[in-house]
Amino acid sequence: MKIINFGSLNLDEIYKVEHICASGETLRVLEFQRSIGGKGLNQSIAAARAGASVLHAGKIGKEGVCLQSFLAENGVDVSMIQLCDEPQGRAIIQLTPQADNCIFVYGGSNRAVDILFIDECLSHAQPGDWLMTQNEISNLPYLLNAAARRKMHIFLNASPVDAELARMNLSCVDWITVNETECCQLTGCTDTMTAYEALRARLPHTGILLTLGADGSICWKDGHEYRQDAFPVAAVDTTAAGDTFAGYFVSCLTEGSSIQDALRTASKAAAIAVSNPGAAPSIPWRNTVDLT
Ligand code: RIB
Repeated sequence: MKIINFGSLNLDEIYKVEHICASGETLRVLEFQRSIGGKGLNQSIAAARAGASVLHAGKIGKEGVCLQSFLAENGVDVSMIQLCDEPQGRAIIQLTPQADNCIFVYGGSNRAVDILFIDECLSHAQPGDWLMTQNEISNLPYLLNAAARRKMHIFLNASPVDAELARMNLSCVDWITVNETECCQLTGCTDTMTAYEALRARLPHTGILLTLGADGSICWKDGHEYRQDAFPVAAVDTTAAGDTFAGYFVSCLTEGSSIQDALRTASKAAAIAVSNPGAAPSIPWRNTVDLT
């Protein structure tokens, strides 16, 4: 059983600022750093560092070759990463001393994922394989339906939420993960727990993972609810915490862990990730997670 992660790859630019920039404000940057990221790439790194066999499918521009190399160095199969003529996808991240962030994403090459490419990549899938994905690539509805036709397990990180995703029929998704903001955006509710109830009602056959930052996480699957406290850490950068959680959770399920054990391991991995700077580079290896 393998994981095919159809996902974005981004060059991240991280600007450390005193506070998130307000409308009309010009703000001095305290520190600047380039890093490797993209929700898709981060999920692949997390699943691979957790021990899973991962094939990453996606598109890069000319400047993105370093992203492909980074995945390969981490044991990810990169044979389904294609070079295209679009500029490399990238993200601008504002990071505060309190470890809050604010991200905007330029899709670029990640939005060049077309249905022919999806069909080609999924021709490598067997029934029972896992599709991981998120909402930074183009043609997501086609991808989800094509994976469902192939009887893959489908895991969607519903990030970033936009109007199209909020309207999308997600009934073929086996697992969906959201944070508090995304849960509210997807359902149109303003209160997190009301939004969680609404998502459960809307997707009765889908496993739901709701991450609550320092308040831990909740999982709903087949009529059972599971809860996991967060592991207390001094957070320096919350970027990629959700991606780490997602990659570790899926990896644990593919190795046969119970949902409760998968939640615990994923939460621990995410806690380690937030105590280190950057996106993909902050994601821990399995031996570090198991020994912590
Ligand atoms: O989830 C974190 C990621 O979101 C960053 O690495 C950035 O590239 C954006 O995709």
